[in-house]
Amino acid sequence: MSDPQTLKKVTTHVLNEMKYRGEKIAMITAYDYSIARIINNTSIDVVLVGDSASNVMAGNESTLPITLDQMIYHASSVVRGIKRALVVVDMPFGTYQGNSLEALSSAIRIMKETRAHGVKLEGGVEVKESIERILTAGIPVMGHLGLTPQSIHKFGTYVVRAKEEEEAEKLISDAHVLEEIGCFAIVLEKIPADLAEKVTKEIKIPTIGIGAGGGVDGQVLVLHDMLGITQDFSPRFLRRYHNLFEEIKGAVSTYINDVKNCDFPNDKEQY
Ligand code: KIV
Repeated sequence: MSDPQTLKKVTTHVLNEMKYRGEKIAMITAYDYSIARIINNTSIDVVLVGDSASNVMAGNESTLPITLDQMIYHASSVVRGIKRALVVVDMPFGTYQGNSLEALSSAIRIMKETRAHGVKLEGGVEVKESIERILTAGIPVMGHLGLTPQSIHKFGTYVVRAKEEEEAEKLISDAHVLEEIGCFAIVLEKIPADLAEKVTKEIKIPTIGIGAGGGVDGQVLVLHDMLGITQDFSPRFLRRYHNLFEEIKGAVSTYINDVKNCDFPNDKEQY
């Protein structure tokens, strides 16, 4: 693999070129500076400051409680650690739906206070006006269709979306709307693989899947899930690349033993 530091900086245009070359896009979540610095030493293309921070970092049951100020805190920390990848920030629940002027001022706050490169928001035609208004300020927007966790209370569960024809047709039509108004990419979450592939073939902007099969232009995973830090979330689509829960637990237990047994600090670990 080439040295990540020498790779070209990722922009929304680069992502589009990647789709046309058939080169897959790799996206991962981050919520803080320390993790961002580690990720910055890889060739990751897009870093998403997801509102999944609400679950992963704050222990909430859903993404709904996280605030704009909290997202801005997470995102500004991440941006300080990332030099090459495109950083996209989730607009939290209640900051863009139903009021396009509020959507614009929320997006402007995110861009000004975090120095990220774009925002992501959930929904199709229902949020068209908000997206259009944000785009007028020159802010790149990533869409998000399928399982949209901010609507969990409407769905009732986190099961696969758009299995039925009516919902699948609405999703296809929403994807076209998002493309036409100027979104630069769309996340497709937890939908049948053949539907995700169909959408990917029909639209010119990149699709990034999570639980949407391999026929999309890129993949995204929540870092804490793929590293095995979170334990209570095991959907079929999740590949765990590590078991950091056990590793951290083991390291902390060893430290406790060392302290209790007066093995830490030793002669060299003091002044
Ligand atoms: O908030 C998040 O982490 C997301 C990804 C799951 C796409 O939106």
